[in-house]
Amino acid sequence: MNEKIIDGKHCSKQIRENLKKEISKLPSIPELVDIQIGNDEASTIYINNKKKAAESVGIKFHHVHFEDNIDKQIIIDKIKELNNDIKITGILLQLPIPKEYDEQELINYIDPNKDVDGLTKINYGKLFLGQDGLVSCTPLGVIKLLEAYNVDLENKNVVIIGRSNLVGKPLIELLLRKNANISICHSKTKNLGEHTKNADILIVAVGHENLINKDMIKNNVVIIDIGINRLNGKIVGDVDFNSVIDKVKLITPVPGGVGPMTVTMLLNNVVKSYKLTNKMDV
Ligand SMILES: NC(=O)c1ccc[n+]([C@@H]2O[C@H](COP(=O)([O-])OP(=O)(O)OC[C@H]3O[C@@H](n4cnc5c(N)ncnc54)[C@H](OP(=O)(O)O)[C@@H]3O)[C@@H](O)[C@H]2O)c1
Repeated sequence: MNEKIIDGKHCSKQIRENLKKEISKLPSIPELVDIQIGNDEASTIYINNKKKAAESVGIKFHHVHFEDNIDKQIIIDKIKELNNDIKITGILLQLPIPKEYDEQELINYIDPNKDVDGLTKINYGKLFLGQDGLVSCTPLGVIKLLEAYNVDLENKNVVIIGRSNLVGKPLIELLLRKNANISICHSKTKNLGEHTKNADILIVAVGHENLINKDMIKNNVVIIDIGINRLNGKIVGDVDFNSVIDKVKLITPVPGGVGPMTVTMLLNNVVKSYKLTNKMDV
């Protein structure tokens, strides 16, 4: 079974070791700020994970926390202050934020050179224009995993389930750059299995446990399971792992697949943002 597992932890470890070396040679310490609004429990866990990961490679981590009834202008002023602070090289808004705020409006206040989640309209536009900018961490992590396991994408049928700004949409562009043939499915897609059965590579980012089972895939498919769901006290993905394992060529486990790579790509983006803000070659 092990030879079928795409080991995100192992892959991450290697990239993090290289980043640590690179960071130790930088003229100053990169600093990352994670802005949280409200008290979403999962977000608090993710923030602690990011803090640990950042500090393990030599990045200074700051957690800025606002209560969920905070005046929008106070958040905007804080972002502007961080934009102007030369010590701060990376800024991210921890998602999701409470519904009363306009997520994209707040994100767009982040300096694009410090936008380590790649979600400002500037970086989003650059991505789809094929220009160099900061790219969303999870899609970047998916591509790194596929590269690490030598998954050839050229002229392969890639089916993505999920069309969020955070995951599905950036993946379209990154996969196009690899000359893949791409289909994208969503909640209005009928007969999902008819689409997924065509996939040479199936990428699932929905947030719905057991959405995909063995009857919905062809033999030898590569599956990237991005979903994170809590089921009976355990973390599981969107794919019924035990059902599909005999049919797949490769699969990411949950946990231990895409998750660690997402955090690693954040660290990677902090180094890139450091270079951008200090006008160094990237
Ligand atoms: N591992 C990681 O590092 C990582 C990072 C980011 C996200 N995630 C996880 O990935 C999942 C997706 O995250 P997200 O932020 O992209 O979520 P999202 O914004 O809620 O998007 C979910 C997408 O799934 C589609 N969808 C919903 N039900 C469906 C169904 N029954 N069949 C087909 N498509 C369906 C939605 O379609 P519509 O557009 O039509 O609504 C939407 O495009 C979540 O579980 C999240 O926790 C993991």
